[in-house]
Amino acid sequence: MTNFSATKLYEGKAKILYPTDDPEILLTYFKDDATAFNAQKRGQIVGKGEINCSIAAALFQELTKAGIPNHYIDCPAPNQMRVKAVKIIPVEVVVRNIAAGSLCRQTGLPLGKVLPQPLVEFYYKNDELGDPLLTIDRLLLMELASPAQLEQIKTMTLGINQILGKFFQDCGITLVDFKLEFGVDNQQQIILADEISPDTCRLWDAQEPDPNLRVLDKDRFRQDLGNVEGAYQQVLARVKQALS
Ligand code: TMP
Ligand code: ASP
Repeated sequence: MTNFSATKLYEGKAKILYPTDDPEILLTYFKDDATAFNAQKRGQIVGKGEINCSIAAALFQELTKAGIPNHYIDCPAPNQMRVKAVKIIPVEVVVRNIAAGSLCRQTGLPLGKVLPQPLVEFYYKNDELGDPLLTIDRLLLMELASPAQLEQIKTMTLGINQILGKFFQDCGITLVDFKLEFGVDNQQQIILADEISPDTCRLWDAQEPDPNLRVLDKDRFRQDLGNVEGAYQQVLARVKQALS
C-alpha cells in the first residue's frame, strides 16, 4: 500500500486528498459526509465513502476500457483511491439527458422531460460564489480553459455520457444527469478527475414509475426522501452485477 502522509493536501465536502511519497500520485479518502445546497444542508450517509469509492472505481475502469483518459489508478482500501496528480480545472461540467434539478427550477421545463439532445453546461467551481452557471464567453474571459481545451472537454463529456448512459441502462438505471471535473496532467493532457457516483449523478430506477421511489442518488438526501443508504447500496449492487 502507498504510504500517505497525515498532512491533508485538500479537504473537500465529500473527499480528502493526501499526498503520497510519489509526487505524481495522490490518495483520495472518500468520506461518509454529505452536503447539499452549497453545504447549507449537512449530514452523513452511512457507508457512503466505501460505496462511492467502489462505484467511481468501477466507472473509471469502464471509461479507461473505452479509451477515456482519467485519473484512476487503484483502490488500496475500500474508501481510498489512488489517483494521478492533476491540476483541476475549476469548472464543473454538467451533462443533462432529462430535465431535473436546477434546469427545471431555472427554466420551468417539467421534471422528467427527455431532452432532444444532451445538454452540456459549465459552472464555475467556486463555493464562495455558489458555483454559478457560466456562459462560454465568461469561461473564456476568465481563462478557466483555452478554446481548444473547452472543445476537448465537451467532446470527452459527450463520449462519457454515451458510455455511462449505456452502462447504467444495462443496470436498469436511467442516467438523468451528472457532473464531471477535469484536470491537466504533467504532460499537459486533459484527463477526467474527481468522482462519478450517486453524489454527482441523478440516477433513476428505469422500471419504477413513482417519482420519489425511482430516485437512487443524492436527491434522496437533498429532498429528505428517506432510505438514502439503501439507494446508494442498490446502485453499487447493480453496478457490480453488470460487471460480473
Ligand atoms: P443541478 O440540477 O443541481 O444543477 O445538478 C446537476 C447535476 O450535477 C446533478 O447530477 C448533481 C450534480 N451536482 C454535483 O455533483 N455537485 C454540485 O455541487 C451540484 C450543484 C450538482
Ligand atoms: N455538493 C454540493 C454541496 O454541498 C451541492 C449538491 O450536491 O447538491 O454544496
